[in-house]
Amino acid sequence: MTENPAPGTPEPRIVAFCCKYCAYAAADLAGSMRLSYPADLKIIQVPCTGRIDVIHMLKALEEGADGVMLAGCLEGECHFLAGNLKAKARVGQVKKILTEIKMDPGRVEMFNLSSAMGARFAEIATEMAERIRGLGPSPVPKKPKKAAAA
Ligand code: FES
Repeated sequence: MTENPAPGTPEPRIVAFCCKYCAYAAADLAGSMRLSYPADLKIIQVPCTGRIDVIHMLKALEEGADGVMLAGCLEGECHFLAGNLKAKARVGQVKKILTEIKMDPGRVEMFNLSSAMGARFAEIATEMAERIRGLGPSPVPKKPKKAAAA
C-alpha cells in the first residue's frame, strides 16, 4: 500500500532496486500487511543487488530519480554469496562520484533486510523518502517527456 502526499507536495522520485529473494518479497509483505510507504517509490526487481552496477545507479539519477536505493539480502545471506557486498561497495563508489560532482551522496543508499521484514521495508522506504525530501529535487535537469508513438 502506498500513501498519498498532501495536495501540492511533490513526492521525491526514488528508484529502489530490490533483490527478489529478500527486499522485493519484503515489499510484497509490507503491501499484504497494509503498511504504507511513499507513493513515488519505483521498485525494480533484480535477481541480486550484485547485478546493479555503478552505471545503473547513475543512469537512474540522470533519468530523473531524486534518489536511488538498493535493498539486498542481509550480509552473509546473499544467494550469490557476495552480491550484496559488491553492491555495497558500488554504492560507496557512487557516493564518491556524487560528492565529486557536488551532489549530496545521501541520494544513494544500500539497505539489507530479509523477506520477513515487511515492516522494515516500509520503514526504510519512508526514511529514504524523508531524506530525499529534505535534500530537495535532484539538481540534474529533467529530460522532456517523450511523445507517445503514433
Ligand atoms: Fe539478495 Fe544477492 S541474492 S542480495
